[in-house]
Amino acid sequence: MNTQVEFPKGFLWGTATAAHQVEGNNINSDVWLLEHLPETPYAEPSGDACDHYHRYRQDIALLAELGFNMYRFSLEWARIEPVEGEFSRAILEHYRDMLRACHEHGITPMVTFHHFTSPRWLITSGGWESPDTPDKFARYCERTNEYLGDLIGAACTLNEANIAPLITKLGFGPPIEQIHQAPWWSAAARAFGIAPDRLAPFLYALSPEAIDTVLSAHRKGMQAIKAGPGDFPVGITLALSDIQATEDGEILASQMRHEINDVFLETLRDDDFVGVQTYSRTRFGPDGLLPAEEGVELTQMNYEFWPEALEATIRYAAAKTGLPVIVTENGVAATDDTRRIAYIRRALRGVANCLKDGLPVHGYTYWSAFDNFEWSLGYRPTFGLIAVDRETQERTVKPSARWLGAIARANTFERA
Ligand code: BGC
Repeated sequence: MNTQVEFPKGFLWGTATAAHQVEGNNINSDVWLLEHLPETPYAEPSGDACDHYHRYRQDIALLAELGFNMYRFSLEWARIEPVEGEFSRAILEHYRDMLRACHEHGITPMVTFHHFTSPRWLITSGGWESPDTPDKFARYCERTNEYLGDLIGAACTLNEANIAPLITKLGFGPPIEQIHQAPWWSAAARAFGIAPDRLAPFLYALSPEAIDTVLSAHRKGMQAIKAGPGDFPVGITLALSDIQATEDGEILASQMRHEINDVFLETLRDDDFVGVQTYSRTRFGPDGLLPAEEGVELTQMNYEFWPEALEATIRYAAAKTGLPVIVTENGVAATDDTRRIAYIRRALRGVANCLKDGLPVHGYTYWSAFDNFEWSLGYRPTFGLIAVDRETQERTVKPSARWLGAIARANTFERA
């Protein structure tokens, strides 16, 4: 039996990063401030990260040499507009050169306008629960796209618009009430100069007002980007866990699917694509969230090694939106690189199954290009295809990078 899967011509084979996780010294961002509170919930500060802010030319050349034809990276609002209304031409020029570097290497640049971090001033003025934020975000998108739009290949407005509900409702973090009581929360509010009940960084914004703010920011941001220059697909990305149920857990599971996914997916009909970001599954029984199933391997993130989740979430997102799907993140944190290859192989089988059924899947992006700053967990979890020495910044290509790069270059995949 022929087990070779041909991917459609023009299929995007990418890797992804986010500015704060790789650039280093993102000092005007809200997360930098949180990392440096004496009471910080972060395991360590991001520091120089992967120094991608300076090493992007070598890094992009390396991704191209490996075989990838797309690179998804984020633009840092806190650098572009470090003080409200003051836009830095030098920083915009920096991102323009990143885009140029991609084109020089035959890589389609997919940019994310917001990947979790915000300028400090935005949080001081009410952050992701303020009704003014969508217009501020749209102004940033407009000014940035004016400078960069002619070189952008595809754009995501917001990364994982539903991350706050997902983290709290699927047990990836403590309940929000507990966070609000933590000493670091009031210390953070003091540091931003805002009352604790008005503190709303993106990762913690899950009130109904926050969801409205986020969705309105997406719509207004998208409109601003669509005004041009440039003519490229624009969408949003969502964190989609494959929410499963035991026989008698379906009521709870479908309520969770509604609150975490559908509330967002159902608003996207005018977008050009939906960005699917999937790492694992979560299961519900009649009394709530179930722990990892016995016998199932755990990743470094402590959730199940479950690559089949991706096929389920692609199908789910496509059915709910009727839009083309781009897998904008999928990956695994593992010290043993052979487990990364095993994970991607099983995930790609799922993508191939979707394509075989005629679903419009336009790309697959592995998270992440590099071992990088995994938010509050610091540098311990290693998602990267490329390792980074924390002292010297030396890059070491892992076998998984060569393996996936070869698939990308050939645009075919041996599914067996
Ligand atoms: C985020 C990344 C993160 C990754 C792995 C996604 O939720 O977009 O920033 O590093 O998952 O946890």
